[in-house]
Formats: sequence, C-alpha cells, structure tokens
Amino acid sequence: MIFDSHAHYDDEAFAEDRDALLAGMPAAGVSPIVNVGASLRGVEATVALTEKYPFVYGAVGIHPDDVGSLDEEKIAWMKGLCGREKIVAVGEIGLDYYWDKEAHALQKKWFVRQLAMAKEAGLPVVIHSREAAKDTFDIMKAEHAGSTGGVIHCYSGSKEMARDYLNLGYYIGIGGVVTFKNARVLKEVAQYVPLEWILVETDCPYLAPVPFRGKRNDSRNIAYVLDVIAELKGISREEAEQATWENAMRMYRIPKQERA
Ligand code: NI
Repeated sequence: MIFDSHAHYDDEAFAEDRDALLAGMPAAGVSPIVNVGASLRGVEATVALTEKYPFVYGAVGIHPDDVGSLDEEKIAWMKGLCGREKIVAVGEIGLDYYWDKEAHALQKKWFVRQLAMAKEAGLPVVIHSREAAKDTFDIMKAEHAGSTGGVIHCYSGSKEMARDYLNLGYYIGIGGVVTFKNARVLKEVAQYVPLEWILVETDCPYLAPVPFRGKRNDSRNIAYVLDVIAELKGISREEAEQATWENAMRMYRIPKQERA
C-alpha cells in the first residue's frame, strides 16, 4: 500500500470528481491519505473529509501565505480540532519567502504560535519552507520543535540541511519533484536520507511526477516517486513502498495513542 502523507483533496481542482476519485483510492493501492489544511476553509474541508472517508486523516494549520487570516480565536478553534481522533498533525505551517504574500514578521509570529499549538496538542507538525531555509530552521531550533517531531514537506533544501533536520528528529517528505530531470540535489538528498526517515507525498493537485508533470496530480502517481527512490536506494519498489508506509504510520501515530 502507498501512504500519501500530504494531499489537498479539498482543492477546487477536484471539484468535479473528488468523491469518485477518493472512493477508489484503496482499490488503487493508496491508503491512508493525510489531507493537509492550508487555509481556514481548507481546515474545515479537511475535517469533513476525515469524517467521510475511513482512510483519510487530517492535519490542521494555516499556510504562511494565509496567516493574515489568523487570530487567537482561530487558534483556539484549531486547537479544539486537534483533539479529534482523526486529526493527526498540525500543518501545513512555516515560512514562504517565494510567494511572499505576508510580511516576514507576521509569518514568523504565526509559525511560532502554531508550533506552540502543536506542542500543546501533542501532535507532530507538517512544515512548509520555501526560500526561507535558514529562518525556518532557526525558528524550529529556538522553539524546540524537535519535541513534537514531524516532516519537512516537499523537501527542497541541501543535503547538509537535511542532516540538520534529521538530527532534530524530522522526517523528509519527497514527492513528484524527485522524478524531474533537473532534480539533481533532491536525488542526492533522497540517496542520503536513511530510508526509515523518508515519507512520500503528492502535494496534489500540485507537483505531478514525470510522466504527468504539469498535469493535475493525485495519490496514485506516488508510484512514480517510489520507482525513483527505489532506484536511488538500490532496493525494490515494494520495499520502498512498504518502508515509507510504515514511516508515515509511525510519524502520524496511526492508530493514535491515547492522549493525556
Ligand atoms: Ni501542501
């Protein structure tokens, strides 16, 4: 089975066929899927998807592009959602200096606040970091983000940075980009990171792997990502699939342990 550790099935790209597509995932070899919130609406939709599909779990959090919508009341609302059985992480949270939609100071403030929320809720975090590698890592270190653990989703940094995150106890999320011809550094990273610290993900509808690059992505395409990882590691596709499935089950703590 393939575990899709990061998907956005609440996205409007799935408006036409969301239910037909999702319902067929276990039969297509994909289960479970973690749907990751990014906006307030996305968080609501994520909770609804976890209620509808037994194999869909959720992460609640606000993406750095959208932190302008946050206040303490919204944090309290999300923290309440964190107590639900099928909400298994806080995310995606972090810093994005590529799109740069919110001021850096505001992004940092709500990143720190949502890390604290994860600690209070006892959940791991799903980290989004784009062109903000140093600030992301500095904040995670200063805030003792190692205590919650989590994943650096759609990892795009250097091998050295990956080592720093591994030392912090974080998993490295790898998706469609690793299949791109020009993904030399990411291929090196995939080779370097021990298999037991790799999660696979779609980030769908985005980042479809070769041969579907540029098209709408969905969880079944993780098969192409696993092929590349298996080749880089010199193992079978089945081995890569099984290991990354177990890694995600472990990181998201499914089935969840009883919380204090
Ligand atoms: Ni995402």
